[in-house]
Amino acid sequence: MHSGLPTIHGFKHLSRIPLYVPGKPIQEVQREMGLTRIVKLASNENPWGPTEAVKARVAAAILGSDTEGLNLYPVSDGHYLRKAIAARKGVALDGVVLGNGSSELLELVAKAAFLDGGSAVIPRHSFAIYGIATQTAGGRVLESRASTTELDVDDILRSVAEDTRLVYLGHPNNPTGIRLEQQALERLVRQLREDIVLVVDQAYAEYEDPADYPDAAAYLSERPNLLVLHTFSKIHALAALRIGYGLGSKELLGCIERVRSPFNTNHLAQVAAEVAVQDLGFEAFSRQKNADARTAFALEAERHRCQLSGTSGNFVLLESVFPAKDLFRELLQRGVIVRPMHAYGLTNHVRVTYGKPEEMQAFWSAIGPLLDGGC
Ligand SMILES: Cc1ncc(COP(=O)(O)O)c(C=O)c1O
Repeated sequence: MHSGLPTIHGFKHLSRIPLYVPGKPIQEVQREMGLTRIVKLASNENPWGPTEAVKARVAAAILGSDTEGLNLYPVSDGHYLRKAIAARKGVALDGVVLGNGSSELLELVAKAAFLDGGSAVIPRHSFAIYGIATQTAGGRVLESRASTTELDVDDILRSVAEDTRLVYLGHPNNPTGIRLEQQALERLVRQLREDIVLVVDQAYAEYEDPADYPDAAAYLSERPNLLVLHTFSKIHALAALRIGYGLGSKELLGCIERVRSPFNTNHLAQVAAEVAVQDLGFEAFSRQKNADARTAFALEAERHRCQLSGTSGNFVLLESVFPAKDLFRELLQRGVIVRPMHAYGLTNHVRVTYGKPEEMQAFWSAIGPLLDGGC
């Protein structure tokens, strides 16, 4: 860093905020380890897609026509994709906002909320971006109680301070794979102070059984300060394109609109997502494959006497006697990338994404001998 930079107050503040550590990319591991076959189970991607229909639509957009081409700016507010999302979700067009991944929306709501400072309540072991978005926007983090098996609504409500502007809730939460039951969610929605924005991050909601998942969107009409986030990176299998969406009141999204840059989502992402959001069949297929992988994983984990947490999402937390960093490194040397969770306060946990059966087989072949005496 240039010697003058640390004297700038904001830069000093930023240098104290932990950096987000992403899953290791396949190419990087290949280069570092000199391995040819790598199995990546580190970033909760969907190995089953995207569909041929989505790929064909992206290919057509690249080829171009009278109305689209790589030389043209995208539709600034993603009108056509927002329309498709609004129809699918049964909400008004002005109740939908797009983000460059839902991560951007986590940041935009923080940017809007912390213009004059304030705090966010974030349950322990939540997705790292909630804390990073809060602090980089100038907000303070108030951590509420949570364990790897339980979210605590009472403690979220108790943790709220006078200057609290946001509450973030992963629902289901990453990395713990847990969520609230309907009654608890309702209590949070109804008892949280009305001048606080409740951000319910539903990035993994589509992996839940629709028959018993309490969708926070059900409360949109009664709570104008509710923002419900979804992503196309998970079940829709479009992580590379960076696109997500938020549902909220016209007033709340109007504020986010003021901090959103005009062309924040690109054309290829918009057209791909427009096809994906209407494909309920692919969602059901992916959900079933994920459920199968979860069942198979639990059986194998039992054989190795491994403790697992969470039954939601397309991932699982595995606890072992090994420090997470060591287990991560050992698996990496065997060509399997998982996510060590020490940065989340889980020193002996790794998070494993459910891959295809052959990928899970590679995982157990790599970890099995390491767990010789059990987890
Ligand atoms: C809980 C949660 N929310 C949001 C995201 C961000 O997804 P994206 O920015 O790719 O939409 C992730 C990604 O892993 C996540 O786990």
